[in-house]
Amino acid sequence: MTASLATFAVHRADSGGELMMEGALLNDIAECYGTPCFVYSKAALTTAFQRLDGAVKSARNGRPYLICYAVKANSNLAVLRLFASLGAGFDIVSGGELMRVLEAGGEPKKVVFSGLGKTAAEMKLALEANIKCFNIESEPELERLNDVAARLGIEARISLRVNPDVDAKTHPYISTGLKNNKFGIAFDRAMDVYRRAAALSHIDVVGVDCHIGSQITDDAPLQEAMGRIVALADALANEGITLHHVCPGGGIGITYKDEDTIDLNRYALALEASMGARDVELLLEPGRVLVGNAGVLLSRVEFVKLTESKNFLVIDAAMNDLIRPSLYQAHHGVVMAGSSRGAAVERVYDVVGPVCESADVLAHARALRAREGDVVAILSAGAYSFAMSSNYNSRPRAAEVLVDGDGGALIRERETFDDMVRLERLQTV
Ligand code: LLP
Repeated sequence: MTASLATFAVHRADSGGELMMEGALLNDIAECYGTPCFVYSKAALTTAFQRLDGAVKSARNGRPYLICYAVKANSNLAVLRLFASLGAGFDIVSGGELMRVLEAGGEPKKVVFSGLGKTAAEMKLALEANIKCFNIESEPELERLNDVAARLGIEARISLRVNPDVDAKTHPYISTGLKNNKFGIAFDRAMDVYRRAAALSHIDVVGVDCHIGSQITDDAPLQEAMGRIVALADALANEGITLHHVCPGGGIGITYKDEDTIDLNRYALALEASMGARDVELLLEPGRVLVGNAGVLLSRVEFVKLTESKNFLVIDAAMNDLIRPSLYQAHHGVVMAGSSRGAAVERVYDVVGPVCESADVLAHARALRAREGDVVAILSAGAYSFAMSSNYNSRPRAAEVLVDGDGGALIRERETFDDMVRLERLQTV
């Protein structure tokens, strides 16, 4: 790992000393709340939002914009509450996410609803909450939304999520803007679908949206996609369909290892240049960049297992807690929470969980000075980590803690066995 620890919202108390987040010792957090445990830094979350917000604000220079945090990346209520207090809007993909945003005090008029399979019930919920906009991904979805809005006697504001057919050059599982992806409306169909939308009785066409993928570290494809949707907005204006916002989606990548990623100021200025003098609002849907490097997963070493061919560090976190390495071959840094003074001998380990799957490897070939009972911090675990966790192998989901200054607050209790079986005990068969 070559990026500095500060990139991952942690630092050493002194050279070779204990690992800290803000003013809190991570070993103390592990002791207090148990492991596995996700820990987020309030300061790092705030800074991540303010950096992006600052870049866009200065590029826009007084023109309107809205940063809609993609809730799916980390949907803890405390995280949503923090972003709402910083002025964020929200990008949701389900009725559940909408209810989380409302519970956290997010403003419905700053909510955009993405996702390609919205049910009539979800549409009704969002229409009744009076959200800012629905991102529509297909013609049947458009017709359904018109019907649901008609039944409620209101108009639904929509943008089309178009598929600009741009290669985001990221992992195929998180690449979404190519023709053969299930997402969005094909670019060459978009004009027709807009005409249809404009003709529907209970649809109000307000924007254009796209999202080409995630963990994008070079902004060229994002700019290419932006160029295409701005051109589409111009073509629509020529037909008398005036849009109020354009949105190039999320996708800004972060450093997991040593990747150089998108310069936010440069990206914001490039978006601004694409928009030119057009009088429209700029929306963004960032997830990972706001939370990814603001969190770590703390886990305790259960066993040091040395075999002839490999050394394994068996820890108490597993693929059910953090599935990204198993699902996307993703890299997460691993560092010891304790001081290196008097620490164990260094060995190269595969860091593995107890789940009965060969894919349950959280990190490959890491040089660590670890012994049984030590705590490790798995870095960059703020995005798509707890949010993608499960109860596989009947493992309760981990606790979540928010560090603010030198203290931590429990923001989600560790699940208990009762939590896991509660809904099954209601069965009468
Ligand atoms: N907008 C839409 C419509 C999306 O589908 C997504 C993410 C975002 C915004 C936010 O993208 P971000 O800024 O976070 O890149 N589980 C994967 C990532 C899946 C991303 C899905 N869509 C991972 O762990 O890498």
